[in-house]
Amino acid sequence: MNNNTNIGIVGLGLMGTSIAAALALKGQKIIAVAPIVSDLDKSAPNRIRHALAECFREGLTLETPEVLMANITFTSDYADLQSCWLVMESVFEDLNIKKEVFKKIEHHVADDVIITSNTSAMPISMLQDHFKVPERFFGMHWAVPAYTSGFLEIICGEKSPIEIGEQLHEIATQWGKEPTLVRKDIRGFIANRIMYAMYREAFHLVEQGHATIADVDHACRNGSQWMGFCGLFRYMDLTGLKAYHAVMMDLFPELSNQTSVPKLIDDIAKADGNGVFNGKGFYEYTPEEAKKWGETFERFAFDMNRLSAKYADELADIPSKSTQL
Ligand SMILES: NC(=O)c1ccc[n+]([C@@H]2O[C@H](COP(=O)([O-])OP(=O)(O)OC[C@H]3O[C@@H](n4cnc5c(N)ncnc54)[C@H](O)[C@@H]3O)[C@@H](O)[C@H]2O)c1
Repeated sequence: MNNNTNIGIVGLGLMGTSIAAALALKGQKIIAVAPIVSDLDKSAPNRIRHALAECFREGLTLETPEVLMANITFTSDYADLQSCWLVMESVFEDLNIKKEVFKKIEHHVADDVIITSNTSAMPISMLQDHFKVPERFFGMHWAVPAYTSGFLEIICGEKSPIEIGEQLHEIATQWGKEPTLVRKDIRGFIANRIMYAMYREAFHLVEQGHATIADVDHACRNGSQWMGFCGLFRYMDLTGLKAYHAVMMDLFPELSNQTSVPKLIDDIAKADGNGVFNGKGFYEYTPEEAKKWGETFERFAFDMNRLSAKYADELADIPSKSTQL
């Protein structure tokens, strides 16, 4: 693994451009492949430039967007990936498209090049079966905005050597992330499994008439402010583990275990609702309101990043010793 050479990113949509900005920010050289030419023409470079300009304005880097953009080579040609030690796929969450993209990447890079997928929920062991050299394949699951979030999950499939997973974890730490290594693949990985358990319960509460959408949102927003400070297990330690133990006995049997997609989201999605992206979601948005939500979320992400790092620094000298057997 020679991590001094280029990193490839294939697929320059919302996530691919966010990842490119995150890595350019750290001075990494990137080959950004957009096989769909419309991405390349305008939207992808503009989106990355905008992200880097925001990082500069917010003090995350002293380099101007122009200097950082020079780290990125844009192309539509998979052959340009030959110079990479690592190639990250971030195309539509569609198995057939991903399979086709993996085949093209593998055709153009040497057998020791690591290939990763940014899939949100496809099992890495299942995707691995579509590779000539399955051991080279890992999940690398980012969050938006990738340049402010400390989140990065590295996922080993059944055939991925754990030592390479550990090396990727180390490299992700050097990129300024607080990564998670998923040693044993599972659908949804760590964060999405936890978040989707929350989404399911949120739908249950609304569909059963216990609360409105807005009430659930208000409760979550204010009841989980600590999440930028520490994780679930630390939070139970901080607030009295025994109380959680007692509540679990009564509450777990009553939580939703529904396996079908909730009607509330099914109806909206089937009517083509896509949230702020077209103004139709769980709430309604005019174009101006949608824009304001997007821009405000971006500023919030920068502030959260600063706040989270500040308190992590204050606790950095306390060793983290888990009692897990
Ligand atoms: N959006 C998120 O918050 C988020 C978070 C984590 C992971 N992901 C995952 O990241 C991946 C990309 O998601 P996104 O949100 O960037 O989606 P997106 O729709 O913004 O971008 C997908 C990109 O794939 C490209 N594409 C489509 N067909 C292609 C093909 N045949 N060859 C090459 N490129 C092709 C499209 O042009 C587009 O640029 C998905 O697997 C998604 O599940 C998304």
